[in-house]
Amino acid sequence: MINKLEMKISAMLENEGVVRNAVAAFVSSYNPTLEEIIDIKTILSEAVSNAIIHGYEYDKNKDVLIKATIEDNKLELIVQDYGKGIEDIEEALKNNFSTQKDQEKTGIGFTIMKSLSDHFEIQSSVNVGTKLKITKILQMDEVRAN
Ligand SMILES: Nc1ncnc2c1ncn2[C@@H]1O[C@H](COP(=O)(O)OP(=O)(O)OP(=O)(O)O)[C@@H](O)[C@H]1O
Ligand SMILES: [Mg+2]
Repeated sequence: MINKLEMKISAMLENEGVVRNAVAAFVSSYNPTLEEIIDIKTILSEAVSNAIIHGYEYDKNKDVLIKATIEDNKLELIVQDYGKGIEDIEEALKNNFSTQKDQEKTGIGFTIMKSLSDHFEIQSSVNVGTKLKITKILQMDEVRAN
């Protein structure tokens, strides 16, 4: 059975925690390990903050879309913005690459997201937006009855 949660949030950093906790609650009935919960929350923080900071440059009038889908033990997360887009995805993926290095940015967000996920995909076009597709396999001892 597929179970899904979709959210559309205003591009405000205050909403990052809402997303993190909503998805954590959504996943919690699947008996994730503490480590899995931490990984999922971290991935979402990095993805949502990137959309707000880089995609929309803090424009609160814009929306970020978040979708979480669970089927069996596979969690798929989609984080999508319709903002600035990424010029050079390969470059952006490099560790320590940031277009805002002066502003407390270490350029490690993508590296973190990649290392914590089982599959990581970026689709992005300049002035169209960015869509991240992240897969996390949950280690479920007990598969839920429903
Ligand atoms: N949603 C997005 N829209 C536009 N550009 C993005 C988006 N996400 C990432 N980028 C670009 O990719 C670069 C690398 O992102 P990454 O998350 O790895 O580092 P960062 O956000 O700059 O720093 P950190 O995440 O360590 O605070 C960013 O500096 C930005 O130029
Ligand atoms: Mg980042």
